[in-house]
Amino acid sequence: MSHLAGQYRASVLSTLCFFLSVSAPALAQKAQNPPGFDPLSFVNPLIGSNNGGNVFAGASIPYGMAKAVADVSGQNTGGFSTDGSNITGFSHTHDSGTGGNPSLGNFPLFPQYCPGDDINNCKYPKLERAVNARNDSIVARPGYFALELENGIRAEMTTSEHTALYHFTFPPSPENGTALHPQIVLDLTDIGDTRQNASIGIDPSGRMKGNGTFLPSFGAGSFMLHFCADFAGGELFDSGLFVNERAGNEPKEIFVTRGFNLFYLQAGGFVRFVRPANGTISARVGVSFISADQACSNAEREIPGPVYDFNGTRREAEDAWRRKLSPIAAEAGGVDESMQRSFWSGIYRNMLSPQDYTGENPLWQSDEPYFDSFYCIWDSFRAQHPLLTIIDPATQSRMVRSLLDTYKHEGWLPDCRMSLSKGWTQGGSNTDVVLVDAYVKNLTGINWDMAYAAILNDAENEPQEWSYEGRGGLVSWKTLNYIPYLDYDYLGFGTNSRSISRTLEYAYNDFCLSTLARGLDKDDATVAKYLARSSNWQNLWKFDQRSDINGTDTGFLGFLQPKFLNGTWGYQDPIACGALTNSFCSLTSNPSETFESTVWEYIFYVPHDIATLISLVGGPAPFIKRLDFFHDYPGLADISNEPVFLTVFLYHYAGRPALSALRAHSYIPAYFNDTNSGLPGNDDSGAMGAFQAFAMMGLFPVPGQNVYLITPPFFEAVGFGGAEGNGSATVRVVEGFDVMYKNLYIQSAKLNGEVYTRNWVGHEFFTHGWTLELVLGDTESEWGTREEDLPPSVKTGGFGNL
Ligand SMILES: *[C@@H]1O[C@H](CO)[C@@H](O)[C@H](O)[C@H]1NC(C)=O
Ligand SMILES: *[C@@H]1O[C@H](CO)[C@@H](O)[C@H](O)[C@H]1NC(C)=O
Ligand SMILES: *[C@@H]1O[C@H](CO)[C@@H](O)[C@H](O)[C@H]1NC(C)=O
Ligand SMILES: *[C@@H]1O[C@H](CO)[C@@H](O)[C@H](O)[C@H]1NC(C)=O
Ligand SMILES: *[C@@H]1O[C@H](CO)[C@@H](O)[C@H](O)[C@H]1NC(C)=O
Ligand SMILES: *[C@@H]1O[C@H](CO)[C@@H](O)[C@H](O)[C@H]1NC(C)=O
Ligand SMILES: *[C@@H]1O[C@H](CO)[C@@H](O)[C@H](O)[C@H]1NC(C)=O
Ligand SMILES: *[C@@H]1O[C@H](CO)[C@@H](O)[C@H](O)[C@H]1NC(C)=O
Ligand SMILES: *[C@@H]1O[C@H](CO)[C@@H](O)[C@H](O)[C@H]1NC(C)=O
Ligand SMILES: *[C@@H]1O[C@H](CO)[C@@H](O)[C@H](O)[C@H]1NC(C)=O
Ligand SMILES: *[C@@H]1O[C@H](CO)[C@@H](O)[C@H](O)[C@H]1NC(C)=O
Ligand SMILES: *[C@@H]1O[C@H](CO)[C@@H](O)[C@H](O)[C@H]1NC(C)=O
Repeated sequence: MSHLAGQYRASVLSTLCFFLSVSAPALAQKAQNPPGFDPLSFVNPLIGSNNGGNVFAGASIPYGMAKAVADVSGQNTGGFSTDGSNITGFSHTHDSGTGGNPSLGNFPLFPQYCPGDDINNCKYPKLERAVNARNDSIVARPGYFALELENGIRAEMTTSEHTALYHFTFPPSPENGTALHPQIVLDLTDIGDTRQNASIGIDPSGRMKGNGTFLPSFGAGSFMLHFCADFAGGELFDSGLFVNERAGNEPKEIFVTRGFNLFYLQAGGFVRFVRPANGTISARVGVSFISADQACSNAEREIPGPVYDFNGTRREAEDAWRRKLSPIAAEAGGVDESMQRSFWSGIYRNMLSPQDYTGENPLWQSDEPYFDSFYCIWDSFRAQHPLLTIIDPATQSRMVRSLLDTYKHEGWLPDCRMSLSKGWTQGGSNTDVVLVDAYVKNLTGINWDMAYAAILNDAENEPQEWSYEGRGGLVSWKTLNYIPYLDYDYLGFGTNSRSISRTLEYAYNDFCLSTLARGLDKDDATVAKYLARSSNWQNLWKFDQRSDINGTDTGFLGFLQPKFLNGTWGYQDPIACGALTNSFCSLTSNPSETFESTVWEYIFYVPHDIATLISLVGGPAPFIKRLDFFHDYPGLADISNEPVFLTVFLYHYAGRPALSALRAHSYIPAYFNDTNSGLPGNDDSGAMGAFQAFAMMGLFPVPGQNVYLITPPFFEAVGFGGAEGNGSATVRVVEGFDVMYKNLYIQSAKLNGEVYTRNWVGHEFFTHGWTLELVLGDTESEWGTREEDLPPSVKTGGFGNL
C-alpha cells in the first residue's frame, strides 16, 4: 500500500501545489499580537484553583520538575486551592489538575516564630501548625507565587528546573522585649501522607539533606525523592529535629519509618536564624530522584549562592514562559479580556506537565529524554498532546521519545505514569493514539519502527498485569471481536469491567495501528487486519436498545450494550454511570461496563468512523437529533470530563458544522471561564485548557488523525508559528466578526486565497503556515455541508481503505 498519505492528505497537498504554481492571490495579514503585548499579563494561574479544577497555581518553569506553592489543608490535589482552607506548608514538587489522591508536595517548609523563643512552643504536626492566608495577599503569576499568612509572615517563591527558591519575610518580633528567632521547619512528609520512610541530616552550616520513599498518587509501587535545602539572609541561630509535638537541638540526623500499624509519625528538621533587618530568610531547595548530592548540585548550578538571586530567577522563569507562548498570536477584535485570559491561561497550563525529568531518572540509563507525569494519557491524548504538537513540536517530540524509551526499558507503553511509577490504565492504550498523532503530523526525531513495535505489542500481547500496561481480554478481542461482559481472561489480570468502553478504545487504538502500518508500508494484510479490528465496536451495537429517563422513553433506538462470551446481550442502562443516575463508575468505585461516563456519551467515541455511527442511528438528521438531545438534556453530557470533548464538534460529520460552533459557545464561557472556579472538572494536566484553547482558535483536533474541524474562532484572528519559522498559520475572520458572537455561521472560506469548502483541514495548515480566511454571517449557510466537504471516516473511504 501507499505510504502515509491517505487520499485526503494527497488532495490537501494538491491544494498547496496549485496555490504555489499560480501567482499568489492577495492573502489576509498574518495574525499578530498588538505592539507591546505581553502574553503573561493574560495568564492567571488561579483559574481552576477552586471547584475541583485542581490546577497547580504556583511557580514553575515550562515542564519544570520544581513546582513551588503553598499547600492547603482543603482541596490540595495540586497543592494550593482558593477554597479558604489553611496553609500547611510550602513544597517543591506537584502535579497539575489531577483527580483522586493528592500528588507529591514532598518535604514542605513551614516558617514560624516560637512563642517565648522556645522551640517546644512551636507547632510541628501539619494540621496543628496550619494557618490561613490573608485573602487579598495571594499573587499567582507564571514563575511566581506569593501570599501572606495571617500571622504576618510573607512567603514568595519562584523556581528553576529542579530548584525552588523561597523568601520568607518575618515581621518584627511580635513579642515586646523578646527578640524571637525566625524558624523554618522541613517536614519529612508529602501532601497525601504517603511517606513510607525518610531521612534527614543537618550540617553545621544549616544545610539540610535527605530523602524519603513515597507512594505515587494513581499508580503502583513507590518512589524515592531526595532534597537539599540551603538558607541565606540571616545568621544561623540553631538547628535540630522535631518528632511529633516535640523538638530538640540534638541529634542532627534521623530516620523515620512508617510507624506501628501505619500510624503516621511526624518528623523533620528545623533551623532558626537571627532576624535580619529586612526580615527575609531565603530558602533554596533542590530536588532530585537520583541523590541528595545531585539535588545540591542542581541547586548550586541553577541558583548559585551565597546570595540567591530571587529576582533574576523569577525573570528567567518569566522569559521561559514568554518564549513558550511566543508562537501564538491572537487579535481579539474587541472581545472581552476575560476571554483572552481564559485562552492564554488554558494554553499556559498545558506546559506545566508532563514534567521534564531528563537526567533525573534512576530507573534506567539512557541518552533519551525522560518525561514523567503523563497524568493520564486517557485525558491528555485528546487535546493536550495535539496542542503541544502545534505550539511546541520540539518538546512534544521529546515526550514521544520518552514514551518510547519507557517502552524500551519497561517493556510497555504507559497509559498513565507519575512519580517514576506505572499509573493505572483507564481504558485502552491511548499512548498508541499519541504516537500515531505525532506520525501523521510529521513530528521529527522519532524512531517509527520502535513506535510500531510498541503499538503492535499493545495490540497483540496481553501482559500479566493489564491494570497498568497493555490491554486485557485479548483472546476474546481476537476471536470474538469484542470485549465480553464478564470475560474469561486467564492470560492477565486487571479490573475486569468496562467491556463497552474498552471495546471502543481498543477499536480506535487498532485503527491508529492500521494508520501507522499503512504509513510504514507494512503489507496490505496487516493494514487490513487492524482496520477490520477497528470496527469491533459495531459488535456491541444493539439495534433495538432503548433508553428511558425516569420511565419515559427518550425515543432513540440503538445503543451500545454489553455482550456475554456466548453472544447473549447483557444490560447496562444507557444513562448509568452519569449524573442522571447519580452514579460515578471508576476503576474501583462502582466498576461498570463504561468508564466514568454513560453509554449515551460513549456511543460517540468512534472518531475513525462517525459515518458508520451516523448510519447506525438512521442517518444525518437522526444523528443530529440524538447529539442535540445528548447535549441539551441536563445531566446527559458530562462537560467536566474528557470523553465529552469531541462530541461538541461531531456535527461536522453530519454536514452541520455551524451546530458545532453553536455548541462550543454553549459551553464557553458558561463552563470554562477566567474565574478561580472557572473549570467544570479536573484540568488533568491542562486537558480542559486545551479543549478551550482549540475551541477558541476554531480548529478542533481529531487525535490520531490529520484532521482539524473548522469553526469560527473566538477572536478576529489567531495565528501559530510554523514549526520551522515559516510564518504563522493564521485563521482570520475577514468579514462579519462580532464580539457578541451572533455571527457564528461560516458563509465561505478561503485557504491560501483559494475557495475552500471542506469543513476540516490537515496539519499542513500549521507546518506550512497557511492562511484560512472566513466570512461569517448570522444564518446557517451551505458551507461545509456537502458529502465531499465532510471529515474522513472509514465508511466513506476517507482513509484510503483497502
Ligand atoms: C478567604 O476566602 C475564602 C474563600 O472565599 C473564605 O472562605 C475565607 O473566609 C476568606 N478568609 C478571610 C480571612 O477573609
Ligand atoms: C484553620 O486554622 C485555624 C486555627 O489556626 C482553625 O481554627 C480553623 O478551623 C482552620 N480552618 C480549616 C478550614 O481547617
Ligand atoms: C507590644 O507593645 C505594643 C505597643 O505598646 C502593644 O500594642 C502590643 O499589644 C504589645 N504586644 C504584646 C504581645 O505584648
Ligand atoms: C523504605 O521503604 C521502602 C518502601 O517500603 C523500602 O523498599 C525501603 O527498603 C525502606 N528503606 C529503608 C532504609 O528502610
Ligand atoms: C538518605 O538520607 C540519609 C540522611 O542524609 C543518608 O544517610 C542516606 O544515605 C540516604 N539514602 C539514600 C538512598 O540516598
Ligand atoms: C535582606 O537584607 C540582607 C542583608 O542583611 C540582604 O542580603 C538581602 O538581599 C535582603 N533581602 C531582600 C529580599 O531584600
Ligand atoms: C526585586 O524585585 C522587587 C519588585 O519586583 C523589588 O522591590 C526589589 O527591590 C528587587 N530586589 C532586588 C535585589 O533587585
Ligand atoms: C425523575 O423523577 C423524580 C421524581 O419525580 C424527579 O425528582 C427527578 O428530577 C426526575 N429526574 C429527571 C432527570 O427528570
Ligand atoms: C449466556 O451467558 C449468560 C451469562 O452467563 C447467561 O445468563 C445466558 O443465559 C447465556 N445464554 C445462553 C443462550 O446460553
Ligand atoms: C464559570 O465556570 C464555572 C465552572 O464551569 C461555572 O460554574 C460558572 O457558572 C461559570 N461562570 C460564569 C460567569 O459563566
Ligand atoms: C508530512 O510529510 C509528507 C511527506 O513529505 C508530506 O506529504 C505531508 O504533507 C507532511 N504532512 C504534514 C502534516 O506536514
Ligand atoms: C519552510 O519553507 C522552506 C522554503 O520555502 C521550505 O523548503 C520548507 O519545506 C518549509 N518548511 C515547512 C515545515 O513548511
